[in-house]
Amino acid sequence: MKALCSRISWAYALAALLIGLVTTAALCADTPATPAYLDTATYKGASVCKMCHNKKDAPIYTYWEASKHAAVAKNLPWKEGETPAVEVAYRHVTGYNPATKTWKDKGVTCEACHGPGSAHMMAKDKKVTIINPASLKTAGQRVSLCGRCHGQYTIGDQKVAVNYKFGQDLLTTEGFKLAEVQEGKPMQEMNEVVTSKHFAKDITCVNCHSSHVATPQAHQLKQPVNELCLSCHKDKTMAVHAPKAAADATCATCHMPKGSHAFAKPKAE
Ligand code: HEC
Ligand code: HEC
Ligand code: HEC
Ligand code: HEC
Ligand code: HEC
Ligand code: HEC
Repeated sequence: MKALCSRISWAYALAALLIGLVTTAALCADTPATPAYLDTATYKGASVCKMCHNKKDAPIYTYWEASKHAAVAKNLPWKEGETPAVEVAYRHVTGYNPATKTWKDKGVTCEACHGPGSAHMMAKDKKVTIINPASLKTAGQRVSLCGRCHGQYTIGDQKVAVNYKFGQDLLTTEGFKLAEVQEGKPMQEMNEVVTSKHFAKDITCVNCHSSHVATPQAHQLKQPVNELCLSCHKDKTMAVHAPKAAADATCATCHMPKGSHAFAKPKAE
């Protein structure tokens, strides 16, 4: 595939020189592809998104307000007037600017997952000017969107992806290195997920979690945990698959010990 890609790239590079418009990035899946509008788009803040996305039939802003992500703004791990370390600030704000070490909003607001929204709010075509995390093509792109915060890694001498661009696949980014998984450590979900059979089958964070659902669930799940798992693993009902489990056990009790996202198959007794 790589060889084919580089050949296509050459052909297109030539064509691009002649007609001066195409880039090869979109053609080859292994080239990190981030949309061109992001070169100039800026962060507008959640109050701008609220203007159009808090309609009665789908009050997304109100749903999001009830989430842990919204609450992060009120529980910052540093005090007013203190200067947090880059890797701490980065995980708790939206629109982090590495040059000035400042940010647009406190907390994990709309644009932390959807990217800067200036082009989108003005555009006629609302789809091509904003990131929909669920529509990103590869599992690597999708896991990176959440994993840039929910992951432990280095990129060269940086502890977080300060130059992350929406749509980027961190896993294939030069100099990117995942830290080893440490049992029970928070904010390492990406490290665990990439080792799972789920990831191998293209299943990532956004299949199971949402920041804005009509009926809030523990851990921002899209559905109660057993229903969620059973939506794919239809034959693994508790009654058939784990008849001896404690009454309050869920699929996570056995398959996510200490919150692990590796979804390993435990040894049968
Ligand atoms: C001027 C009104 C307006 C503003 C402001 C606005 N949007 Fe939208 N947005 C729309 C419309 C219209 C659509 C398409 C229909 C829909 O999904 O509601 C849309 C669609 C979207 C989608 C879905 C795209 C897809 O491919 O499925 C996302 C995500 C989104 N907006 C996020 C945002 C975010 C984040 C902000 C704040 C930065 C924002 N919007 C501000 C009007 C707006
Ligand atoms: C933690 C990440 C995250 C945050 C924060 C977030 N979203 Fe989303 N949003 C998503 C994901 C993932 C989807 C894809 C839908 C799904 O979950 O299946 C989505 C989908 C959407 C859509 C498409 C319609 C839909 O419901 O599928 C709109 C519009 C949208 N978000 C707007 C917003 C607005 C406005 C905010 C802030 C008030 C916001 N989002 C905050 C992750 C986020
Ligand atoms: C197959 C479904 C699934 C996938 C994929 C998944 N999660 Fe989870 N996640 C869960 C479940 C279920 C829980 C609740 C576990 C429990 O009840 O102990 C959870 C819990 C969490 C928590 C709370 C952890 C805590 O200890 O409080 C975070 C944060 C989280 N997930 C983030 C992520 C991120 C980020 C990704 C992608 C890198 C991801 N998840 C992928 C199902 C999933
Ligand atoms: C800008 C950084 C950032 C991004 C991007 C981000 N998160 Fe989070 N997320 C956080 C922080 C910080 C918390 C709060 C952790 C805490 O309270 O200990 C959190 C909390 C969570 C929780 C825990 C909810 C609970 O009840 O325990 C889940 C689940 C979660 N995020 C999933 C996601 C998913 C899925 C995505 C991608 C669609 C995502 N996050 C994107 C920073 C981020
Ligand atoms: C979107 C669909 C989907 C959801 C939701 C989902 N799974 Fe999976 N799961 C899969 C697929 C696909 C595989 C891989 C099957 C294979 O490779 O044969 C898998 C594999 C597994 C495995 C086998 C791992 C191994 O090493 O063999 C376990 C255990 C598992 N899932 C548990 C869960 C649990 C627990 C939940 C709920 C928290 C869950 N799954 C939610 C689709 C899903
Ligand atoms: C009491 C512990 C326990 C509970 C609760 C439990 N499982 Fe399991 N699960 C196991 C064990 C042990 C295995 C490995 C042996 C086996 O395949 O039966 C397993 C295997 C699996 C596999 C992989 C099967 C395969 O053939 O590769 C899936 C998928 C799975 N479980 C899904 C679920 C779902 C979904 C739930 C919740 C409805 C659940 N489990 C609840 C203990 C449990």
